[in-house]
Amino acid sequence: MPLVLGIDTSCDDTGVGVVADGRVLANEVESQTALHARFGGVVPEQASREHLSVLDAVVERALDRAGVSLRDLDAVGATRGPGLVGALLVGLGYGKALAWGLGIPFVPVHHLEAHIAAAVAGAGQDPPFLCLIASGGHTALFAVRAWDAIERLGRSRDDAAGEAFDKVARLLGLGYPGGPALAELAGQGDDHAVSLPRPMQRQEGFDFSFSGLKTAVAIALERDPGLRPEDVAASFERTVVDSLVEVTRRAAERSGLERLVVAGGVAANTRLRRAMDEVGLHATFPPPALATDNGAMVALAAERRIEEAASHQDDALEADAAPYLPLAASGEPSASA
Ligand code: KG4
Ligand code: ZN
Repeated sequence: MPLVLGIDTSCDDTGVGVVADGRVLANEVESQTALHARFGGVVPEQASREHLSVLDAVVERALDRAGVSLRDLDAVGATRGPGLVGALLVGLGYGKALAWGLGIPFVPVHHLEAHIAAAVAGAGQDPPFLCLIASGGHTALFAVRAWDAIERLGRSRDDAAGEAFDKVARLLGLGYPGGPALAELAGQGDDHAVSLPRPMQRQEGFDFSFSGLKTAVAIALERDPGLRPEDVAASFERTVVDSLVEVTRRAAERSGLERLVVAGGVAANTRLRRAMDEVGLHATFPPPALATDNGAMVALAAERRIEEAASHQDDALEADAAPYLPLAASGEPSASA
């Protein structure tokens, strides 16, 4: 039973997790939300500096929580991309050095593959399945036919779904990152009170678009400053969720993939969970603590790669941080990292 430590420093949270046999023994996340909130968004240099100053302590906390020591580890995984390059370098460099020092394998992990691994871990689910990833940085639909045969069916042409949540939350004065706060406010509002255009309604493919919707909210607020924030939040949330569900339903129908996995920070949204169910898409969602960025998901992805013996690459220590790293090319199946 390999014991794997995983590190994610792709954006603004320092995540370290420990897993064994698909079970999460520790998942420590040091959030930088307060640091970036006053800027209204993530400041990359600040994020890198913060990762650098806290990572060692977060690793120790994760080991303590798991009740293990460094010497017990069998492998170390770290996110190599996509993400902010300075932030990635902190976790990747630390992970490589730790593995090398302990004389154990190092596994460079794709951030989106880690999100998927977190979503399927509890369900013990293997491909084939359709996967919707909706996070702050990405919104895309993948046909995961096998772990090494992933095809991208569609993606957002502009803002990611989580990014739209954050931007509209900002318009409503909810602070940063606003997704969870907006979702909570939406629960108290009338979701038909504000009429907003459904994005890409007349499009046939599997792409998404959310920046026009954000602009529509801004215009509605400008025209009628008396709108109740909870009604705006509920109407916006319904429109985003309807769009995600509609495109996913179409992709499920056309691809013939019956099982659906939803991953990424927006997978924590309860309305999205309910709406998928209502259209008969029985999806596997990650537990909320594993939905947003964390280290356990990296450890889970690394563990799977080790089991497949795919990680025993001599060049793993040479993997560079990759700020732009597609999970799969559009239209043609390709390797998953
Ligand atoms: O996957 P993640 O932690 O980071 C990225 O890799 O981007 O996703 C974070 C995103 C943020 O935009 C956040 O506002 C959104 O997920 N989010 C939510 C909820 N919880 C987190 N959006 C809607 N409803 C939620 N409950
Ligand atoms: Zn993420």
